[in-house]
Amino acid sequence: MSLPHSPWVEAGGDFAIGLRPIPAAAWLEGGEDDPAGRKDPLIAKSPAIVWGETPGSRPGQAEVLALIDAVRGQQGGEAGLPPLLAAARRVPDDLCLMEPRDGVWRLTALSLCAPSFFTAEAALGRSLAELHAPVDGFAARFGGRLERVFAGLRPDLILERRNWTVVNTDALFTPDSAPIRAEIPYIPVQEAGRALHLRVERQTLRRLPATGGALFTIRIWRAPLETLDQDPERLAAFARAWRGATAEFRNYKGFASYDTLVEGFLRARGESYSVNEV
Ligand code: HEM
Repeated sequence: MSLPHSPWVEAGGDFAIGLRPIPAAAWLEGGEDDPAGRKDPLIAKSPAIVWGETPGSRPGQAEVLALIDAVRGQQGGEAGLPPLLAAARRVPDDLCLMEPRDGVWRLTALSLCAPSFFTAEAALGRSLAELHAPVDGFAARFGGRLERVFAGLRPDLILERRNWTVVNTDALFTPDSAPIRAEIPYIPVQEAGRALHLRVERQTLRRLPATGGALFTIRIWRAPLETLDQDPERLAAFARAWRGATAEFRNYKGFASYDTLVEGFLRARGESYSVNEV
């Protein structure tokens, strides 16, 4: 299956805020039959990795559950479950509740069953600046703008952004990059199209008007690199984004360890330009 999003076409190989308004009807994409069936075993086995809440976040959590139930035509949480967790079991997306605490936007609760190399435990309670500290150059380029986006978020506005990376797994649950990256040297170059995957995060942000917080959703899509064969324009755009990626973007996403494999993949498809000629 090819991906429903191809952010490398528009954004190329650089970090971007890339927020755009979407209609309410397009808020959550759905498309997974049984999200609870995937999430429940993770919640049972690795609770600290996939779930966290801070004291005082239950009213905001309840507003998230009400919003999600409103679009799904459902009602009420499961007895005994925190409302955000009940909400997260009903949708494919991961749910992050951001709330102002002493004038600073903080992550006060989250359900994170498809983490891209981070954990609920490490992220809970962090401010926007702290969450983005590992992203090279983030504070200087985007820090102020991101604060303003959150401060000015109108209740009737839903924003969407997408990002992309390349990883050598199709797993959704990837809290730690180390065991995945350790496999890279064993991938034969002729297998690159099947072993490497495009991983796209589709994120949305909306205000919670009653409690004053904001809900950030993360939906992961992924497909083998070889699905680019179905669309020559997406393939060419990928080659341009890969080869034109900024040093910060490449470094943050660990692209150097994939260069031989991706170049082999591209050259086998007539994208003959070599990284060594950059
Ligand atoms: C809608 C506003 C936001 C924007 C524009 C934004 C932007 C970014 C960007 C540019 C990156 C680098 C990777 C990429 O290209 O996506 C990133 C990474 C990240 N963002 Fe955000 N972000 C936003 C909201 C949030 C929120 C609310 C959270 C709370 C969970 C969050 C958590 C993270 C994390 C954990 C990373 C990865 C950092 C790491 O590598 O450890 N972001 N974000």
